[in-house]
Amino acid sequence: MITQQTIQQITNRIDIVEIVGEFVKLKKRGANYLGNCPFHNEKSPSFTVSPSKEIYKCFGCGKSGNAIGFIMEHEKYSYVDALKWIAARYNIEIEETVTSPEVKQQQQVAESLFILNAFAQKHLSKNLVETEEGKSVALTYLKHRGFREDIIEKFQLGYNLEAKDDLTLALIQNQFSIEYAQKAGLVTARNETYYDNYRGRIIFPIHNQSGKIIGFGARVIKSNDKAPKYINTPENEIYVKSKILYGTYLARQAINKYDECLLVEGYTDVVSLHQAGIENVVASGGTSLTIDQLRLIRKHTNNLTIIYDGDSAGVKAALRGLDMALEEGLNVKLVLIPDNEDPDSYVKKIGATPFREFVEASKKDFIIFQLEVMLKDAGNDTAKKSAVVNQVAETLSKFHRAEDFTKQQDYIRQCSGILKIDETGLTALVNKLKRERITKEENRQVNDAQTPPTDAPVEIHETAALFNNDENQEKNLLRALLEYGLLQWDEERTMADYIFEELEHYSIENPALENLLTIYKDYYYKGLQPSTKSLLYDEDDSVRKLAVNLSIQQYELSPRWDSKMEGMNINNRDISRQDVTMSLNYFKLRKIKKMFDENQRDIEKAASFEEQMDLIKIHKVLKDEEQKITGQLGTVIFK
Ligand code: UTP
Ligand code: MN
Repeated sequence: MITQQTIQQITNRIDIVEIVGEFVKLKKRGANYLGNCPFHNEKSPSFTVSPSKEIYKCFGCGKSGNAIGFIMEHEKYSYVDALKWIAARYNIEIEETVTSPEVKQQQQVAESLFILNAFAQKHLSKNLVETEEGKSVALTYLKHRGFREDIIEKFQLGYNLEAKDDLTLALIQNQFSIEYAQKAGLVTARNETYYDNYRGRIIFPIHNQSGKIIGFGARVIKSNDKAPKYINTPENEIYVKSKILYGTYLARQAINKYDECLLVEGYTDVVSLHQAGIENVVASGGTSLTIDQLRLIRKHTNNLTIIYDGDSAGVKAALRGLDMALEEGLNVKLVLIPDNEDPDSYVKKIGATPFREFVEASKKDFIIFQLEVMLKDAGNDTAKKSAVVNQVAETLSKFHRAEDFTKQQDYIRQCSGILKIDETGLTALVNKLKRERITKEENRQVNDAQTPPTDAPVEIHETAALFNNDENQEKNLLRALLEYGLLQWDEERTMADYIFEELEHYSIENPALENLLTIYKDYYYKGLQPSTKSLLYDEDDSVRKLAVNLSIQQYELSPRWDSKMEGMNINNRDISRQDVTMSLNYFKLRKIKKMFDENQRDIEKAASFEEQMDLIKIHKVLKDEEQKITGQLGTVIFK
């Protein structure tokens, strides 16, 4: 890990205009800089860099972030690698924290496994093309299946001889530890004798993001065997199945280029498509996608196209991963290969260009596909049909990122069309499910409390209440806190002190914002002077994103504003107190409104007269508070 001091040094030194300027030609425009966006094609520049806020934002494609984020996005670097790049740019020496003995141990094991795997791969590849057995059994088989030699080489395919311990002996002769060879899955022990684990199998090496071999898939050649078709590497320090997609190393550039990732089931599908010149392809191994695999894809693209054979179990498995993909904000399309073929056999049958055309023409939106399949199953059965409506609503309720809202609206429109139901009804149902899940998640977080079953019919006022949400006010208040927190409110208190006091009676409900507040407080009470800037460089990715988003909201208005107001010295007028007061007031008003609504509902449901009277008292208190605030807001706004 890079030390906090080094990170501090780097962030102090960063000049976002310089960093971005390495890749984008920037021109000064008012307080900002403008250029052509490197993340999408554009003719007139809408890519803006704000040196004062230390962020960039493209008004065309919406990408935004700080200097580190820019390097991560542009160079597809990890956070740490981006920091290293910037450190090198400014000649800052990187200090790394001392690693714990356990971590060190694990790194050493990982390093040994990488070296061992690399050796094994070379040995096995040599077996394939240089030994008699390799050539006559394995290479012949691969060639018979239509794999070209250059592709076999590119994928570093290999062959493990039938002999009991050819690889084992080679490993021992080269001083590799037999214990690690077992850990790597290459060798097994039986009756204190060591055997090659992949005897008589074709070997598919599996690479990590940087091209190192983390494991192998080993396929039988003779299919009459009772043995499993593939043996895979057991989980170890470097082979973690849930994080692996076969082929990512060779596919990543093509995925970036086409802004799309094709997903197939098998190793051979990936190899065949590469051979046909389709390189933006990875394989899942036929199981449902995990969250880590989806995130791996999302590092490169938001567009995922699943290409499976029509009636494989894999389609069902993939369907199971769909909701998670939506939550990750991926656009998922599905292509089904007809006639019991798989991508490997189909591309060989019809050829590369027709295959590409076929994929383009038969891409089906995954959500719509799922809906149509279920609807076909339901036939004319009304009960089944309403189950379908519920299922679709469930799926659509998984969109939860603000930026996916339009997409969700679009789907609601399309799906209600297909279902021939009222659009507002489906909207209400989706929102109800969304809210239920939020409540459930909150309850789970708070001491794992049980929520009562919510199978009540959808009520319109519930939907309305959803639109009444107070996230914007919460966001705005945090924005004000980040921006002005360190200024003085009065002689004793800073603005942050004041906001914290006011917040004692209200709560921030959005979990991410609440987390940001906690982090802010943590910095603050440690005397670390938190600000948008320090949070922009927090080590937690979600905190960084949130800080960027908060500071950008207001900033979005500014390119034109800045140029118009240039010279009028608007920046020197202190509006901090007004801003904090107004942000707090709007925030409180929204909270009061919510309590008001809840109280109103309680009054309607009150069991006794006394209870009702108590609730009416609360009603009055809330009303008074509301009036007080509206009064203040009036004076602030109109003064
Ligand atoms: P397939 O049976 O479709 O294999 O399984 P394939 O790779 O396409 O091989 P060919 O074309 O028949 O030669 C798809 C994937 O499921 C995993 C492997 O990752 C395989 O590539 N699998 C399959 C296993 O891990 N073990 C098995 O026994 C079978
Ligand atoms: Mn196959």
